Amino acid sequence: MAGAGISTPSGIPDFRSPGSGLYSNLEQYNIPYPEAIFELMYFFVNPKPFFTLAKELYPGNYRPNYAHYFLRLLHDKGLLLRLYTQNIDGLERVAGIPPDKLVEAHGTFATATCTVCRRKFPGEDFRGDVMADKVPHCPVCTGVIKPDIVFFGEELPQRFFLHVTDFPMADLLFIIGTSLEVEPFASLAGAVRSSVPRVLINRDLVGPFAWQQRYNDVAQLGDVVSGVEKLVELLDWNEEMQTLIQKEKEKVGRGSEPCFPPSVSLFLVLGLFRGEQVHACWG
Ligand code: APR
Ligand code: ZN
Repeated sequence: MAGAGISTPSGIPDFRSPGSGLYSNLEQYNIPYPEAIFELMYFFVNPKPFFTLAKELYPGNYRPNYAHYFLRLLHDKGLLLRLYTQNIDGLERVAGIPPDKLVEAHGTFATATCTVCRRKFPGEDFRGDVMADKVPHCPVCTGVIKPDIVFFGEELPQRFFLHVTDFPMADLLFIIGTSLEVEPFASLAGAVRSSVPRVLINRDLVGPFAWQQRYNDVAQLGDVVSGVEKLVELLDWNEEMQTLIQKEKEKVGRGSEPCFPPSVSLFLVLGLFRGEQVHACWG
C-alpha cells in the first residue's frame, strides 16, 4: 500500500505534511478549503484550480526514486502480489511495475473522461492544453474533460475491488508513505490475516500502527528511502537494486520512457528487522 510519502523524495509534495504538504500550499488557487481542489461540485463551478495543480503533478516531470524501484524489484523477484497506490503521479508505472500488478486506487492521468458526454480519451491528448494553462474541452460536445483522477465522493476504479481476493492471500503487507487518512483505502491495512506481518515505512506512526498495533506489526519510522535502504541491506539486495536503477536510468538516458515492464525468506529477515525496530519505536 503506497501513498504520497513514497513520491516526496522524487520532488512531489505530499498532501498533509505540515508546511510542505499540498494542502498547506493552496492559497495561490484561491479555493474555499484544501480538499475542494479534488471535489466534483467545485470542479464543475471552477475547474481552473485543479488544472493549475494538474500542471504541477502531470506525469513526465518527475522520476521514480529508490523506494519505487524497491517495489519494482519485489515484482521482478515474483514477490509482488499487487501494489495498491493512492498516488496519481504514475511513478509506479515509470518504475516498470506492469499495469496488471497495479491498482491506482485514486485514479490516473493516463486516461480522461468528458464530464458531459462521458467519452473516454487518452490522457496524453490533453497534456498540451494543461501545460498551456488551458482547461481541456471535449472535441465532440465541448464539455470539460477531466483526467480519471478519483475526486472525493466519486466511485473508486473497479480494479480497487481486487482487494477482496488479494489481501486475504497476502503473506506480508508493506505500507509505505501514507497517513492512512482516506477511506476506503486506509481500511485495507486491516484486511490482511492477523498472522500476516504488516511493515510500516513512514515518517510517523499512522492508522492502526498508532492506535491498534498487532503483535507482529513492524514500524520503520523516518525517511522512506533510508527505511527501504535498511531493508534492502538486510535482504542483501543492494547489488540487484543498483543494477536495476542503473538499467532504468540508461533507458531514460536513451530518451525512451522506461518500458514497463529467488526466494529470500522475508520472514527471517523481518525477524531481524522487527527485533531492531519494534524495540526502537515501542521500547
Ligand atoms: N519519508 C517518510 N515518510 C514521508 C515522507 C518521506 N520522505 N514524505 C511524507 N511522508 C509521510 C507523511 O509524514 C505522511 O504520514 O507520508 C504520509 C503522507 O500522507 P498524506 O500527505 O496524507 O498522503 P496520502 O496518505 O497519500 O493521502 C491520501 O488523500 O487527499 C487525498 O487523494 C489524496 O491520495 C491522497 C489521499
Ligand atoms: Zn463530450
